[in-house]
Amino acid sequence: MIKNDLYLRALKGETVDRPPVWMMRQAGRYLPEFQEIKAKYDFFTRCRTPELASEITVQPIRRYGMDAAILFSDILVIPQAMNIEVQMKPDFGPYLPNPVRTQKDVDNVIVPDVHVELDYVMQAIKMTKDMLDDEVPLIGFAGSPWTILCYCVQGQGSKNFDKAKQFCFTNPIAAHQLLQKITDTTITYLQAKVAAGCDAVQIFDSWGGMLAPSDYHEFSWQYINQIIEALKDHAPVIAFGKGCWFALGDMARSNATALGIDWTCSPRNARYLTGGNITLQGNFDPSRLFSPPAEIKKMVKQMIDEFGKDKYIVNLGHGILPNIPLDNAKAFIDAVKEYKSPS
Ligand code: CP3
Repeated sequence: MIKNDLYLRALKGETVDRPPVWMMRQAGRYLPEFQEIKAKYDFFTRCRTPELASEITVQPIRRYGMDAAILFSDILVIPQAMNIEVQMKPDFGPYLPNPVRTQKDVDNVIVPDVHVELDYVMQAIKMTKDMLDDEVPLIGFAGSPWTILCYCVQGQGSKNFDKAKQFCFTNPIAAHQLLQKITDTTITYLQAKVAAGCDAVQIFDSWGGMLAPSDYHEFSWQYINQIIEALKDHAPVIAFGKGCWFALGDMARSNATALGIDWTCSPRNARYLTGGNITLQGNFDPSRLFSPPAEIKKMVKQMIDEFGKDKYIVNLGHGILPNIPLDNAKAFIDAVKEYKSPS
């Protein structure tokens, strides 16, 4: 049994004294103890070495005491396992030297045995669970098939993922084949992560908001929904679509356990669009962590009051930025722990 099960209780919609809190991308980036490890080992070595991945996972918990840990890894380990080369270039980000651009490229993409190709992730989960000693739950994650396709086709990060969209709209048959291969891989991957010890899984659709609503349904949501359906009897599933407020109604009618909200949607509107019954997670503007700590605390309290303390998980609206002062991240977490409901 997990000792601090606040996060799992919020996912179930139970009444709580205060909501749980964690931060997307909390493992890494802004933490000096992470920078020390980063200076010694390159990115995929950190991902592939269970001792390093588990240590990085627990670092933020040790420092701040969040109510959930998220495994240190990356969404791009999936294309790597599917026979697509992925490099992580310092000060540049992901780089895929042979992007998927033709039917032949799609044919060369494999659906791997995740228990073999991604066994290092499962080992990292087991080691992390041992280190956490059931203090807090462990979240596993994957990118949405659309967001993974974006990197596979574009070959790197982008402001608009124009090449990925061009591929989908000029060669939809190949695009759907690729999306299905990613979906099939992601389903067995997330099921294996749960079997290895993850207490919940989150799907990051970081680039869903690039798509028009009808295209979103065709190229992103229907695949996320397949993953939700395949995972729903294994673990709670949280779907986070950045910029996807327009899809919140459909998402709320799915079997997702909770939905992530970004900061462009107000708490009130998010509750309205999702029908008021499903657990929501978010949605502090990551840049607002640059405000002075006292102001952060005030804004966090207001955010909780607006979402309501129940069926709610405090988080940022996207990943924490690399240059956030440590005291400001602390103010965010502490504000939630100090929360007293107005009644
Ligand atoms: O909380 C955590 O940090 C857990 C681990 C985690 C990483 N990536 C580690 C990482 C998670 C949950 C991710 C998810 C991820 N990766 C997403 C979805 C979430 C989001 O932010 O939208 C995406 C789009 C990626 C792809 C990716 N990986 C990019 C664009 C980059 C480069 C820029 C950056 O720093 O975000 C990465 C590299 C990466 N993944 C780093 C870390 C800590 C930084 C590079 C390094 O440490 O060497």
